[in-house]
Amino acid sequence: MRLVMEHLSKQFKNRIAVESIDTELREGVYGFLGANGAGKTTLMQMICGIIEPTAGEVKINGENNIQMGERFRDMLGYLPQEFGYTPGFTANDFMLYIASIKGLPPRFAKRKTKELLKLVNLEKDAGRKIRTFSGGMKRRLGIAQALLNDPKILILDEPTAGLDPKERAYFRNIIAEMSKDKIIIISTHIVSDIEYISDQVLIMKKGKFILQGPADELLKEVKNEVWSCRVPNNQWSNFERTHCIANSHVMKEVIEARVISTSSPIEGAIIVEPTLEDLYLKLFSDELQEG
Ligand SMILES: Nc1ncnc2c1ncn2[C@@H]1O[C@H](COP(=O)(O)OP(=O)(O)OP(=O)(O)O)[C@@H](O)[C@H]1O
Ligand SMILES: [Mg+2]
Repeated sequence: MRLVMEHLSKQFKNRIAVESIDTELREGVYGFLGANGAGKTTLMQMICGIIEPTAGEVKINGENNIQMGERFRDMLGYLPQEFGYTPGFTANDFMLYIASIKGLPPRFAKRKTKELLKLVNLEKDAGRKIRTFSGGMKRRLGIAQALLNDPKILILDEPTAGLDPKERAYFRNIIAEMSKDKIIIISTHIVSDIEYISDQVLIMKKGKFILQGPADELLKEVKNEVWSCRVPNNQWSNFERTHCIANSHVMKEVIEARVISTSSPIEGAIIVEPTLEDLYLKLFSDELQEG
């Protein structure tokens, strides 16, 4: 399968949310990474055919997604960033309700509901009202409903928002185990959620992909630019202002810091292995300073 974005753009009044994106996705897991307002949700909504591009288009095996209509929706699973649950429904009712909207046969829907609630670890809570669910449970239910029609294209907009570390690890395992015949797109701010499960990471900034590739490939961008060093207490406030700090830890007389810098930030600094989060900080340090 081929999902192609061609000069894909979206403008809201005078704000350009997505600017002329050209890329091609095949089966695999893709992580969209970007700051607030980068355009992730807008891009995903165009891929899903929920909003129309101002220019360009999305093609599935050469065909326009919106023109495909039902045939496209049959192959699509989508978890929106802001998902409207029906609080009075039980998890089970809700799944069957979504299945009926998707036009799935009732017997298939029942079997699939059971299977998916088990997959997302909500088997025991199937009969509970959604109103009584935690944020993480709702998110897991959202992932389950997106899978009802065995989608070939699965789009999850911030699926791990509000999940605790254990639930996030569980989510990563679910995605990693999913069959390899899908195009899976996941957006997040949490770098570690996609670092290890994505075949490709696409970093989005101000409506464009500024970097795209396998995580280990992208890390070359910060190789030899991540340092571990010790800064004396009395130099810290100046040091902090003039460097990109990934994290810091207060010790007795010094502050131990992880710093992103093209040259040694201070005497005695040593180069350490970069992570995707270091790269993210490097690419967005200008926005962090603005904000
Ligand atoms: N319906 C709309 N009308 C006007 N502007 C919009 C609309 N939807 C999005 N925008 C703007 O488009 C830009 C991209 O927004 P979008 O929601 O796609 O970003 P995002 O990367 O998903 O952000 P977040 O990480 O906060 O979810 C933002 O500047 C936003 O204000
Ligand atoms: Mg968003």
